[in-house]
Amino acid sequence: MTELVVAIDGPAGAGKSTVTRRVAEALGYTVVDTGALYRTVAHQAEQRGVSWDDAAAVTQVARELAAEDAIRFGPTQSGMTKVFVRGEDVSTAIRSSEMSQGASKVSAIAGVRDALLTMQRTLGARGGVVLEGRDIGTVVFPDAGAKFFLTASVEVRAERRYQEHVARGDSIDRALVRQEVAERDARDTQRPVAPLRQASDAILVDSSSMSIDEVVAFIVDKVHGLEAAAAKAPK
Ligand code: DC
Repeated sequence: MTELVVAIDGPAGAGKSTVTRRVAEALGYTVVDTGALYRTVAHQAEQRGVSWDDAAAVTQVARELAAEDAIRFGPTQSGMTKVFVRGEDVSTAIRSSEMSQGASKVSAIAGVRDALLTMQRTLGARGGVVLEGRDIGTVVFPDAGAKFFLTASVEVRAERRYQEHVARGDSIDRALVRQEVAERDARDTQRPVAPLRQASDAILVDSSSMSIDEVVAFIVDKVHGLEAAAAKAPK
């Protein structure tokens, strides 16, 4: 069977992480969580006292991480991909609400996106991967064999993010989570470099009133069809 590059893009809280993991399991593919890379840059910048608004310094942090090949993905545990930086487990630290904002900020810096591009292409180069992000189908893998744009209404997405925090035991205000989701949407869609948008050839999946099972089944079915078509296509 021909193994494809599957791109799943969409805004925060659309269910991308869970869907990506379950789709990858069903297909026997591996997961690449590209948001974790931006989160790691934000986290490393903070650790070094570098402001997220200092584009040149944050770019330098990202370039060093890329040059040293310092970021490693480990197995998924409790629905979360393990992330290591130079051996240190940063999986929990990068998923705080603060790092969500930091990642959104540093991801608007062209130099940071550039530094992480090769890393993402290398991770997906051999196919048999599901990459989750914002610009996978538009910039990172414009020729991906299967592209999906997974979204949901802002209310539904904010509620899901809030429940994720509750499940982790974070004490956080519901209204604040909604505001943060709306702020991130605005920043991610309006930035000049690689803004969040649906690729013209991506399949739109609105999960507002679909269950996770339904979304996963829909995507897996489409990918199976595309795999079969790719296997028949002349090389
Ligand atoms: O998917 P996430 O919430 O972990 O992503 C964190 C931030 O990183 C998000 O605000 C947008 C940014 N991001 C991006 O710009 N491009 C990607 N491919 C993935 C994430």
